[in-house]
Amino acid sequence: MSEFDGTRWADPDFIKEYLDNAEAYVPFRHSMLEMLRLFYLHFIKGNRTKKILDLGCGDGVIAEVILSADDGVRVTLVDGADEMLKKARERFSGNENVKYVCASFQELVVGSLLPADFDLAVSSLAIHHLEPEQKEALFRYVFSRLNSGGYFVNIDVVRGPTDELEGWYMEVWKEWIEERKRAGMTDQDFSDISRRYQENEDNRPDTLEFQLESLKKAGFEQVDCYYKYGVFTVFGGKKV
Ligand SMILES: C[S@@+](CC[C@H](N)C(=O)[O-])C[C@H]1O[C@@H](n2cnc3c(N)ncnc32)[C@H](O)[C@@H]1O
Repeated sequence: MSEFDGTRWADPDFIKEYLDNAEAYVPFRHSMLEMLRLFYLHFIKGNRTKKILDLGCGDGVIAEVILSADDGVRVTLVDGADEMLKKARERFSGNENVKYVCASFQELVVGSLLPADFDLAVSSLAIHHLEPEQKEALFRYVFSRLNSGGYFVNIDVVRGPTDELEGWYMEVWKEWIEERKRAGMTDQDFSDISRRYQENEDNRPDTLEFQLESLKKAGFEQVDCYYKYGVFTVFGGKKV
């Protein structure tokens, strides 16, 4: 059994639960996706070549954002879960500009599955499943797959730099969930989501500082965090 097969993402019921409810428990998901769209419009849309790599694509939510902003783009979607790629295939049925690769990040970094000609690599809520040294290896790999002038943008959860801050960020998350309920936006109860997130052994968030440093060590420049709400962040860098 591969490392990925031992995770909950290999379970179709877990996948269904995420796809059905992500909007209800990922705070300001639309804001993070909007940052990505704005990043795309500013840094990539005018390029001569626009080849995008989405790591841990799930059902293709990021590619949808980019394709809605620019239909002249070619996208390669990668995910370890066949079931997720099935959903993405349904979403982009008939679109010949979208390619699908079923592989785990662990398999990617040791193989030659992908070409080295991407202009933008993106990822959303996937890389936090890796151990610190696996994140570093993946960042190096992403760097190696980008054209010069290419960018990497990662939407992900991070660990607070101290237990005190982590505790507050979990409260902030809970408050967002409860506010939506009070506002009548949902009748579902996700008040235990931060506890479930912390108890899930597949979640291995590292601090933002560690990851920004890892990007720099991998060779990225202009490394920065573009958005942050508690543990939810959008950060990345450029291959000059
Ligand atoms: C929380 S979902 C996010 C999906 C999508 N990017 C989104 O934002 O909705 C995490 C995705 O990462 C994939 N994933 C998790 N660990 C992975 C790994 N080690 N290699 C490849 N894919 C992985 C899962 O299969 C899942 O589709």
